[in-house]
Amino acid sequence: MKLITAIIRPEQLAAVKEALFKVGVTGLTLTRVSGHGGEREVIEQYRGRQVRLEFHEKVQLSIAVSDPFVEVTIDAILSSARTGGVGDGKIFVQPLERVIRIRTGEADNDALTPVTPHSRQEVSV
Ligand SMILES: Nc1ncnc2c1ncn2[C@@H]1O[C@H](COP(=O)(O)OP(=O)(O)OP(=O)(O)O)[C@@H](O)[C@H]1O
Ligand SMILES: [Mg+2]
Repeated sequence: MKLITAIIRPEQLAAVKEALFKVGVTGLTLTRVSGHGGEREVIEQYRGRQVRLEFHEKVQLSIAVSDPFVEVTIDAILSSARTGGVGDGKIFVQPLERVIRIRTGEADNDALTPVTPHSRQEVSV
């Protein structure tokens, strides 16, 4: 199991959400964040140079997936989040030790069962 953290442009969120849904990934957490990448904004001043970090609004997606879903999730994010311009974002992949679904007590892969368009869905109202 892996925890995939993707930092993307807010403008790409709708496309990324759709791409993830298409490959069967629907369990995710979204956080609005501010961040800075590898760029350096240098301001020339009267005496010397000063480096300033400008923070940019980004969206962070946290997605826990079972091993067979790691590459499809990464590919879905890459194809939908990329504009080709600097600031497209980054994907971090970390090992995930345990996952527990609170309702049932199911653990690990059983707790991550992605809901695909072909699988049975229970609807609660
Ligand atoms: N090393 C990092 N650690 C944590 N967060 C990062 C790191 N690099 C980038 N981020 C996050 O990702 C966001 C987007 O980064 P960005 O796409 O600008 O990365 P980059 O390395 O500068 O690549 P590019 O050259 O394509 O701009 C940042 O605003 C920040 O939130
Ligand atoms: Mg950058």
